[in-house]
Amino acid sequence: MQQKNHILLTPGPLTTSVEVKQSLLKDWGSRDSVFIDMTMSLRKNILKIVRAPESFTCIPIQGSGTFGLEAAFTTFTNKNSKILVLSNGAYGKRASSILKLLGHPFVELQFDEKTIIEPNVVQQFILKDPDLTHIFMVHCETTTGVLNPLAQISKISNEAKLCFLVDAMSTFGGIPIDLLNLNIDVIIASSNKCLEGIPGISFILAKQDLVESSRGNSKSLSLDLSAQWLEFEKSGQWRFTPPTHVVAGLLTALDGLNKEGGVAGRFARYRDNCNQLVQGMRELGFKTLLSDSTQAPVIVTFYDEFKNSYTFNNFYNDLQEYGFTIYPGKLTSAQTFRVGCIGNVYPKDIQRFISAVENIIQ
Ligand SMILES: Cc1ncc(COP(=O)(O)O)c(C=O)c1O
Repeated sequence: MQQKNHILLTPGPLTTSVEVKQSLLKDWGSRDSVFIDMTMSLRKNILKIVRAPESFTCIPIQGSGTFGLEAAFTTFTNKNSKILVLSNGAYGKRASSILKLLGHPFVELQFDEKTIIEPNVVQQFILKDPDLTHIFMVHCETTTGVLNPLAQISKISNEAKLCFLVDAMSTFGGIPIDLLNLNIDVIIASSNKCLEGIPGISFILAKQDLVESSRGNSKSLSLDLSAQWLEFEKSGQWRFTPPTHVVAGLLTALDGLNKEGGVAGRFARYRDNCNQLVQGMRELGFKTLLSDSTQAPVIVTFYDEFKNSYTFNNFYNDLQEYGFTIYPGKLTSAQTFRVGCIGNVYPKDIQRFISAVENIIQ
């Protein structure tokens, strides 16, 4: 069992507020009008977070972020599509794995994990392949914490008339995304990262005409977003057992987001968390993998340069004693570990974390 007030400095699931936890202490009938209204309210409020135009709809689906990604690919692509997957980490690669299983034509354009997706390279690549129909990018590649250039790739995609799918799993609600000023067709995110809800729901924001015209694409019964959208429009209900408590928790989490001043307020806190973390760790001698200009205030990757027989596992366990959970690295090229700055975590918590690290390494 974890200690009381244990703080998760991870990419998710994350520390949630007391209010979110308390909102789970009730049961809801999945076919009751109260729960149908809760689902409707959730769908509406999620669209507002990214200023989605009227033409968009929000389709929540059971499961973690990867379920949402699989749902989006099986619904919005088919064997006549050709998808350009932009990849600078594990989540770009995961998209390729999904497409490979679906058997849909795709090409992966790889970039170094320490750098952003380079817009000029993408533009040149697209010019050379007239068969492309879709483009996919991860906003913040949580493997490292690198923030990819959403506005530039959206512009390039629009000029090339491609359907643009964005994995905004680790930025949605924490880093501003303005759909009124971006040309994005599909966004995929989940309940348990910057929205600070509990895990169990992924949601897909997509242009309604795309959802309608994608009917019949899905090779999965449960991940068919067009069918789920139709059901929401018809009866307001989930097709299969909904994660009732997760919906309740997420609605409370969205209230918390509003109280914090929306995405701008939350972004400011995450940025403060990140700045304190990076500065504090550097003062203790740790080096960051990324340069400050490419770092998203989401998760920070540090080189693991522990000496002698002291290893990451020792460090991890020692931090547990202080009430903090961190995350191992996900890179193949270097030994690293990661510390998150998202969730219901404040600069004072980061200060306590830095003090704990200082005590441990001394
Ligand atoms: C950018 C990104 N995409 C996809 C995922 C996969 O989400 P899940 O682990 O919830 O399935 C994650 C999880 O950390 C992520 O950060």
